Order: sequence, then structure tokens, then C-alpha cells
Amino acid sequence: MAREVTHEERGPARLDESDMGDDDMIYVCQCGLSGSKPFCDGSHNATTDEADDVRYKYDGDDPDGKRREIAAIEYESG
Ligand code: FES
Repeated sequence: MAREVTHEERGPARLDESDMGDDDMIYVCQCGLSGSKPFCDGSHNATTDEADDVRYKYDGDDPDGKRREIAAIEYESG
């Protein structure tokens, strides 16, 4: 699986202890779909059924059901 995500920010986000949740942890989005970047908002749940060999593009800020397959990924054999 792979995913193309459109980012509009042009710099880093600075995090500090005020960004910690109730469990004193900071969860940073790695899937690219969060609507509250850089924090995880649970949007990654939309990726659980992605196939390994397909690239996806999610449209808009709400990834629920708004994705399309844009290309198959071909891997070279060693
Ligand atoms: S890892 Fe991206 S929303 Fe959770």
C-alpha cells in the first residue's frame, strides 16, 4: 500500500508538553490523512483495507470513502 497526500504547510510544527493528551503522550500522524496535523485524529482507520500493491489518493479532508486507486505499484524482483 502507498498513498498520495497533498500537504499545504511549508514549515515544521513545534510541539511541547501542552500538546500531550490525557495519557501524557503525543500521537503524530504518519498516514497523512489527519484533519488536525501533525496530530493523529483516527483518520488512519480508513487505511486498514488498503491492498499492498495499490497506490491510493484520498480526496478532501474527510478520507471516509473518498479514495481512489491511482496506480498499481510494480516491484522489481531481486
Ligand atoms: S496516523 Fe494519521 S490519523 Fe492516525
